[in-house]
Amino acid sequence: MQKPDFVTLNDFDRTTIAALLDRARDFKNGRIDDDVAKKKILATIFFEPSTRTRLSFESAMHRLGGGVISVADAAATSSSKGESLIDTIRIVSGYADVIAIRHPNAGAALVAARHSDVPIINAGDGGHEHPTQTLIDLFTLREKKGRIEGLSVMLYGDLKNGRTTHSLAPALIAFGAHVLFLAEPGLEMPDYVVERCVRAGGLVHEVETVDAFFGTKTRLFVVTPEPEIWRRRLSAEQIEIPALDAIYVTRLQKERLDAGDGERRRSLPSIDRTVLARPEFKDAVVLHPLPRVGEISPTIDDDPRAAFFEQARNGVPVRMALLAALLGKPPELPPASSVARAGKATVGPSPCAHPRCIASTERATVASIIMTDNNGIDRCVYCETRSN
Ligand code: NCD
Repeated sequence: MQKPDFVTLNDFDRTTIAALLDRARDFKNGRIDDDVAKKKILATIFFEPSTRTRLSFESAMHRLGGGVISVADAAATSSSKGESLIDTIRIVSGYADVIAIRHPNAGAALVAARHSDVPIINAGDGGHEHPTQTLIDLFTLREKKGRIEGLSVMLYGDLKNGRTTHSLAPALIAFGAHVLFLAEPGLEMPDYVVERCVRAGGLVHEVETVDAFFGTKTRLFVVTPEPEIWRRRLSAEQIEIPALDAIYVTRLQKERLDAGDGERRRSLPSIDRTVLARPEFKDAVVLHPLPRVGEISPTIDDDPRAAFFEQARNGVPVRMALLAALLGKPPELPPASSVARAGKATVGPSPCAHPRCIASTERATVASIIMTDNNGIDRCVYCETRSN
């Protein structure tokens, strides 16, 4: 049997994700024997900064009775001597039973999954994806609202570079939520995420310009299973934001802004008491993967709608459920579908054009692979950037 991996939520159906969330709830409520990882070792290899993700993975593994080995700083590994990611992974997979990797380049976790003998968890691959954060986000939303289906969730902030939203948006659609993207021009959701949302069942999207919402020029984009309702709501001259069940905020990803952007953009408009006093936010829980750097004001921390600290705490039971599943407990998880999923994948003659794609930064060892998506668009299999 092939080993399971957790590289992208694309590899999982709704039933499996819901089963993981159920297991997480049982762990949170202390209803599960938590010695399932006894004598097992988790390796956390983090080539990028992290507080919550690495520590909650490690805490989860300890709570499951397992052990942890850890790299918290890329400079402390042989990659600083020029070792390839593939070699590093081959070595570490001989030392551990499961590996959680965070890397600054898109597609790193997929490369790792293809070259590791043990399950790989994507703990963030550049600006591409962060699927374990999505499990936490879905779990928290379900706890706070009792369901996901039918909710209206606004994703706000740096949607271009905020990897958590890239994993979250299609998952919300798959669970039957309505998703609104609100981003300033230049920070909109990448097209491959929109394409995934549509593939997950989002029937129509509308684009409008909203000037007054956060006192800044923003763009609103809706992906929904019920396009007619939204067409009516959004066609009015005065765009009316409907009642929201949640607003999911992301920080400006300064480390990933394109050249020139960093100077221009210093901050995002903040969610504060004034914003939360608007009628559309009356019942909206406020989520954020954290860290926040000004886009949520500390003045709302005591508001009952502020759920971001609880969300961070949920990282432990959710990651316990994931680790347990990857170590053989239910639900059964599939391997990273990787290139097999693409069907029409071909090995590209030249490296990926995206400078922060693993097929570009590790071009000596990672061959560029192009797949053709449902719309006939050729994309890099690692970062999903268009190649035609
Ligand atoms: C996020 C990340 O690393 O992508 N943080 C996290 O894992 N909780 C969000 C961020 O850094 O903005």
